[in-house]
Order: sequence, then structure tokens, then C-alpha cells
Amino acid sequence: MSKSQSIYETIGGRTAVEAVVSDFYDRVFDDPVLEPYFEGIDREALYAHQVQFISAVAGGPVSYEGADMRAAHEGMGITEEAFGRVATYLGEALRENDIDEGDVETILEEVGALEPDVVGQ
Ligand code: HEM
Repeated sequence: MSKSQSIYETIGGRTAVEAVVSDFYDRVFDDPVLEPYFEGIDREALYAHQVQFISAVAGGPVSYEGADMRAAHEGMGITEEAFGRVATYLGEALRENDIDEGDVETILEEVGALEPDVVGQ
């Protein structure tokens, strides 16, 4: 990856991010441990925010306009186990869509840093 290129550009921009997010949610919504957390949630709105969020994390020209991570997950009682599963599915979705291993690790590190805001709130 050249220095002037962000991960977002390298992986193929919005189309690639949308494919990853779609794949990611297929995995999340298929997991019986995670399903209860997402009951009654507006999946389309969540999907749109997640596309923005992943784009922003990957250095794309997209700003994330959702709630901050602590506020977004407050009162859900998200466990470490649930967080681990979600992070695992994100990694799988990224790899499935041929994102370079180095870029996968960078994205997962950024997301992992959010664990204290998401778990146990
Ligand atoms: C891996 C780190 C995670 C990231 C980066 C993340 C990111 C996000 C984002 C961007 C939103 C949208 C916020 C908004 O609508 O303003 C959101 C909402 C949500 N997240 Fe997460 N999330 C993570 C982990 C989790 C986990 C582990 C769970 C549950 C097991 C979870 C459950 C939810 C639910 C249920 C909502 C919908 C809230 C609502 O619409 O009321 N998230 N998340």
C-alpha cells in the first residue's frame, strides 16, 4: 500500500465496504448468541451506520454520523463473549472479501480498542 492511499481506497472503496458489512451482518444475525441483542432493531439504519463507521475506521472520505460507541451500546449488557464473536465475524467478513491481512489486522485493532465502550455498559 502506498503512503498516500488509505485502507479504504486500497480495498476498493464504498462497494467493498458494503460487501464486507453485508457479509458481517449475515454472520451476526445467524448467531443465536447474538440474535437477542438485535431483536427489534432497525437493521437498515444499523447497516447504514456500520458502512459509515467501517469506512471512517479504514480512513475513507466518509464521516460517521451515528451515536458515540458508549452511548450506542448503553444498557445492552454486552458481554465479553458477545464482543469477541462480533469481532471474529468482522475479521471473517474482511478476509472473505479478500482484504489484505495487514489491513484486516489494522481494522480489528481499531475496533478492539472500542471494547471498553461497548462491553458491560
Ligand atoms: C465490535 C465492535 C462494535 C462496533 C464497531 C459497533 C458499532 C456500532 C455502530 C456504528 C452502531 C450504530 C450506532 C448508531 O445507530 O448511532 C451500533 C449499534 C448497535 N450495536 Fe454495535 N458495535 C460493536 C459491537 C457490538 C456488539 C458486541 C453488540 C451486541 C452483541 C452490538 C450491538 C449493537 C446494537 C443492538 C445496536 C443498535 C442500537 C440501536 O439501534 O438502538 N454491537 N454498533
